[in-house]
Amino acid sequence: MSVLRSVIVGCGSYLPARIVTNDELAAQVDTSDQWITERTGIKRRHIAADNELTSDLAAAAAKAALAQANLEAAAIDLIVVATATPDQTFPATATRVQEKLGLARGVAFDIQAVCSGFVFALAVADNFLRLGQANRALVIGAETFSRILDWEDRGTCVLFGDGAGAVVLEAHAGIGSTADRGILASRLHSDGRYHDLLYVDGGPSSTQTTGHVRMEGKEVFRHAVTNLAAVVGETLEAAGLKAADLDWIVPHQANKRILDATAKKLGLGADKVIVTVDHHANTSAASVPLALAEAVADGRIKAGQLVLLEAMGGGFTWGASLIRM
Ligand code: UT7
Repeated sequence: MSVLRSVIVGCGSYLPARIVTNDELAAQVDTSDQWITERTGIKRRHIAADNELTSDLAAAAAKAALAQANLEAAAIDLIVVATATPDQTFPATATRVQEKLGLARGVAFDIQAVCSGFVFALAVADNFLRLGQANRALVIGAETFSRILDWEDRGTCVLFGDGAGAVVLEAHAGIGSTADRGILASRLHSDGRYHDLLYVDGGPSSTQTTGHVRMEGKEVFRHAVTNLAAVVGETLEAAGLKAADLDWIVPHQANKRILDATAKKLGLGADKVIVTVDHHANTSAASVPLALAEAVADGRIKAGQLVLLEAMGGGFTWGASLIRM
């Protein structure tokens, strides 16, 4: 029987033009470039213009991914957008992206797993493709997190940025070994007991307002390192591979100290970790595909290499995906 596997055939990204440095933030809230750099590794972030919506960022990243894949939008029959900052409460931002790409067929919907959203969306799209329910998917992580920040809370407002990243996934038949291209394994987790450590204090059903990000940073940090190292191990094991087999790890970019601690726990050298947190900050669901697209574009990640994506976010949610590029 012919085995279907989902192969990444294109990556793309989009960052809003406006760049905000730590020094600019220090002029607004009681913080400093030194504190932000030492505690997070962040130096700057991109912030969307007032008239730029999450769907605009997502559509721009999607077009870049399609161009790299040398495909027209018409080739796509599934669009999954991971976002915690949708244009509107409904409809799904994915349907806005569908329309912006000039498409009127196929399936489009959103996934909500905050910072883990892209890894969740990739696993969902992979399942659609492997079951033969779609042939080519756009999987997009897109956020305008700046819109849900409390710009008076220095504990959160310095940490996040806006952006979008996308991949084109294509179902390929007749492949089965871990040396063949495609998604080899994914593992996802959620644990709703940790709601209060990272959440937005608003929503249509609770307050009828959009609300702002609230976070117990230290607690989230502690869980992140433990959960991420565990799910990476679990995903590698599912494919019968080891951390030493990895060419690259593309982590969710929340904090340079989390990236370092997780890599250390896995026994991976810093030279195998893609880091963009310094110039993107934490872009939630966009961070993993933004980092992936950057490392593919600059030639670090090459065809045939073994790459592991991982993320952790509000919920808590966390997951990983192991990919032969
Ligand atoms: O994407 C989803 C996952 N999110 C994360 O993974 C975030 C995880 N957490 C973190 O990255 C870190 O916990 C933070 C960067 C959020 C905070 O770093 P920390 O080392 O845990 O600092 P802290 O929260 O314990 O705060 C230490 C001190 C406090 O002052 P006192 O109480 O010691 O006097 C804070 O008030 O730093 C203060 N502080 C700041 N000072 C200057 C907090 N934010 C700032 C700031 N500028 N922006």
